[in-house]
Amino acid sequence: MTQPESSRIRIFDTTLRDGEQSPGVALDHSQKLEIAHQLARLGVDVIEAGFPIASPGDLEGVSRIAREVRGPIITGLARANRADIEAAARAVELAEKPRIHTFIATSPIHMSKKLNLEPDAVVERAIEAVRLARSFVDDVEFSAEDATRSDWAFLSRIFKAAVEAGASTINVPDTVGYTTPQEMRELFAFLKGELPAHVILSAHCHDDLGLAVANSIAAAEGGARQIECTINGIGERAGNASLEELVMAFHTRRDAYPFETEVRTRELYRASRMVSRLSGMPVQPNKAIVGDNAFAHESGIHQDGVIKARETYEIMNAELVGREAAVLVMGKHSGRAAFRKALTDLGYEVDEERVKSLFARFKDLADRKGQIFADDLRALVESRTDVPQTFVLEGFQITSGMNMTPVAFVRLSTPDGPVDATAHGDGPVEAAFQAISKITGLNPTLESYRIQAVTSGGDALGEVAIGARYGETTLHSTGVATDIVEASARAWIRVMNQIVAGMGKARTITATSI
Ligand code: KIV
Ligand code: ZN
Repeated sequence: MTQPESSRIRIFDTTLRDGEQSPGVALDHSQKLEIAHQLARLGVDVIEAGFPIASPGDLEGVSRIAREVRGPIITGLARANRADIEAAARAVELAEKPRIHTFIATSPIHMSKKLNLEPDAVVERAIEAVRLARSFVDDVEFSAEDATRSDWAFLSRIFKAAVEAGASTINVPDTVGYTTPQEMRELFAFLKGELPAHVILSAHCHDDLGLAVANSIAAAEGGARQIECTINGIGERAGNASLEELVMAFHTRRDAYPFETEVRTRELYRASRMVSRLSGMPVQPNKAIVGDNAFAHESGIHQDGVIKARETYEIMNAELVGREAAVLVMGKHSGRAAFRKALTDLGYEVDEERVKSLFARFKDLADRKGQIFADDLRALVESRTDVPQTFVLEGFQITSGMNMTPVAFVRLSTPDGPVDATAHGDGPVEAAFQAISKITGLNPTLESYRIQAVTSGGDALGEVAIGARYGETTLHSTGVATDIVEASARAWIRVMNQIVAGMGKARTITATSI
């Protein structure tokens, strides 16, 4: 009797590798680790934690995730050569479930122009790479870069060779986002017929034509049982297939797509916010599932409908993706126990020490704001810092007005005790930054500045996200406060603390970049 075909789709998250290849994104180790823990909570099957050969820092980043994150398979990417594969093997060796992901390009244009190799040589390289990877780990994935512009017979040949050499997952990337759902469905159905049944076929789609999610779903219809994707769809150029869109499409349209994932959908929103905050890449308001407007109803007709019956205009519950945003949770009379419970209810595991410091900030916020919403609490917790607190904001005062040069007075606690400085600037935020730089003696270049309200209303918390450059190092930071100058100052001080701690990421484009 033939077994019913499994409908389980493995979710392979590449936010920390392909996602991190987004222009301007550079995550340091602690940020990568924080995201990896959230991906594990989310329930993804595989975390691609980086490209270990790219730099010693990348190798250490992957290795830390391999050592500390339990649950998902942890993989590192390697081109089909010895140095890359050995670096990937070192990086994942302490993982609970290690995988090496190796790849080589297979399209005529990539083979002749980029690799300068004949097809036979490409097949040889693939075989050697998979064999070498298998000498380190049992779980090897092989990808044919630019597969969707490759000859199908050649794909079949190289994939069969890779499977024979020991690969158990075969990935078919639409590297340049060129394919269509129909082509993808047909290609996967073809490959499924060519390869042994135990092989897991995988899709990896880029979004250059906005088709990455549709193409990934079509691949599943053709036989893919692993999909590679990223939180918020970040990635090279137009990005990768968006994890949250795929998962919610499968969940919401089970009637049309008979597939299951093991993703805990209630963790999606938190993952999205975390990736946006740490990567410095804002989520567009109308982004499906996680955008600010995804569950907002503006027109009177829609609002009236939703009040009468939610299903008139909503196909999913916001709660299902972890967005119980506007619910009032706390007031200024709430005690520490209620505060701790609210954090637990929102899914945060925080130790007593942290509850204590967060509670002090919560009280301060509640005094100013009165009502505290779930999003306020999230912003408080997520503005956490693993950065050693060399400099701490003690107080500030701004003088500004029409026809006046803004002046900031700032007091920081420093290892030498409290230090004050006064500075002026083109605006109050710049004046505060100048004063902070005077105290710390550090003057990084501000590269990006973004402010957004965490909740609505005049007393809403403001979240400032900044990107800065210090020498060759790129740093990202956020600060949260009801006052935008304070939120900005907190973000800028965090940058100073990162610099002192030697954090941030050197972003040099080398020959080892993919
Ligand atoms: O897009 C691509 O081809 C890739 C591979 C390296 C898997 O990211
Ligand atoms: Zn890719």
